[in-house]
Amino acid sequence: MKLESDGRLFIGGEWEAASSGETFESINPATEEVIGSVASGDEADVDRAVKSARSAFEGKWSAFPPAKRAALLQKLAGAILKNRDAFAAIEVADQGKVMFEASKIDVPMAADAFNYYAGWATKLGGSTIPNAPGMLNYVQNEPFGVVGQIIPWNFPLLMAAWKLAPALAAGNTVVLKPAEQTPLSAIKLGQLIEEVGFPPGVVNIVTGFGPTAGAELVAHPDVDRLSFTGSTEVGKGIMRTAADSLTPVTLELGGKSPNIVFADANLDAASRGAITGIFYNKGEACTAGSRLFVEDSIADEFIAMVLDRARKSKPGDPTDMGTKIGPLVSAAQRDRVEGYVKLGQEEGANLALGGKRAEVGDGRGYFYEPTVLTVVSNTMRVAQEEIFGPVLSIIRFKEVEEVVLEANQNPYGLAAGVWTNDLGKAHRTAAALNAGTVWINTYGLYSAAVPFGGTKASGFGRELGEQGVRAYTRSKSVWVSLG
Ligand code: NAI
Ligand code: MG
Repeated sequence: MKLESDGRLFIGGEWEAASSGETFESINPATEEVIGSVASGDEADVDRAVKSARSAFEGKWSAFPPAKRAALLQKLAGAILKNRDAFAAIEVADQGKVMFEASKIDVPMAADAFNYYAGWATKLGGSTIPNAPGMLNYVQNEPFGVVGQIIPWNFPLLMAAWKLAPALAAGNTVVLKPAEQTPLSAIKLGQLIEEVGFPPGVVNIVTGFGPTAGAELVAHPDVDRLSFTGSTEVGKGIMRTAADSLTPVTLELGGKSPNIVFADANLDAASRGAITGIFYNKGEACTAGSRLFVEDSIADEFIAMVLDRARKSKPGDPTDMGTKIGPLVSAAQRDRVEGYVKLGQEEGANLALGGKRAEVGDGRGYFYEPTVLTVVSNTMRVAQEEIFGPVLSIIRFKEVEEVVLEANQNPYGLAAGVWTNDLGKAHRTAAALNAGTVWINTYGLYSAAVPFGGTKASGFGRELGEQGVRAYTRSKSVWVSLG
């Protein structure tokens, strides 16, 4: 498959080559074929993009009434749905995610985010605060101005939507940097942004690499607000750089989420949840339920159920609607996953399933077998570090207190799952888990209306929901002497 990408950046409403003239290739991880040539933005391009975002913010965009912003966001949501097949094909080819997930989940959820935040554009009113007689105080919510947003490669279109929609609804302008592994859907989104009639410069898209385009965007002195989703290491670096200019940041970082199965759970549902929890998007998900805690008394039976399901989750051609597991995003990511599986075995874990590259079709592509490690202890590195691939670590436990303690004994705090039919135990466990999201008797649900984000090394700040849009406003209080 060959996709059209014209190797250009979207700056100030124009499609321009990078000022250096440099491009790089985007690779289909299922075929290892080049599917696009992408502009490699650098300092000069980021600077032009920030300047055009600034002039759009001070010009046309600030003159746009909120209701008109809402209408544009809705129009964009409609355009995304109209282009569902095209977006799904791009996501499959560029990321390696499977067609079912791309077309039934990623694309509609991206449209949902724009529709949801369209509603907020007209609802960001402030307040008046009673004060001394003769004094009026009102508080209004203002956009920050120019927002810099950096997104990862695991949900390329969806992450672009989660970042752009609230920032635009609140009246900001944006410079977006997609991940170098998966830039094509953002470029397509830029085309729709232009088509539906956003004024030039309201959204600018600078493709390029992290240490160049990404780092320049973070360091740019005229960016008022930053939002990043990606690795914890890069997130820390972004915060350090942002400290110099005191630019506020939102960081959505990694995870090592515990998925806890108590003996009294519906084991059939729990085993399904354990599988989708880890193998969804081939494990390339920050909320992957990568630590499966199983109560000892049902562990043998339950692990057999999980292995049975995992065996049926064969990697295959991601363009096929029936395929559940596609290739990993890149050779580098597959190397990383392979390294961790080897490490786990050295640490004493038992390789119960997978642990090797998968042969699909003509043997090309970065496919990896769904992998299950049993006899894992929570202190092993495979239980502590984010692998970001289809590797499940299974840990046994005996007591509620023990499992809560171990679940929390991890640097990350993004999400957690709890499976039990004991209502009190479910809520007590949810309360005790240090995580931004807890799923009870389900796993991996999201909604544009529900805040999402982490604790500890998973970052801070929330996306989605009301908190997600408030994050892109700052309040101004105005005092008036009534004389
Ligand atoms: P990464 O954090 O390097 O990449 C994410 C984004 O940050 C990309 O757009 C990249 O270009 C940009 N970036 C990289 N270095 C930057 C810098 N110095 N300044 C500004 N932007 C920069 O993640 P990477 O290296 O692709 O993946 C490594 C690991 O990170 C994965 O195996 C996974 O564990 C984790 N990760 C977590 C994600 C999440 O959703 N929480 C998403 C992607 C990766
Ligand atoms: Mg990187």
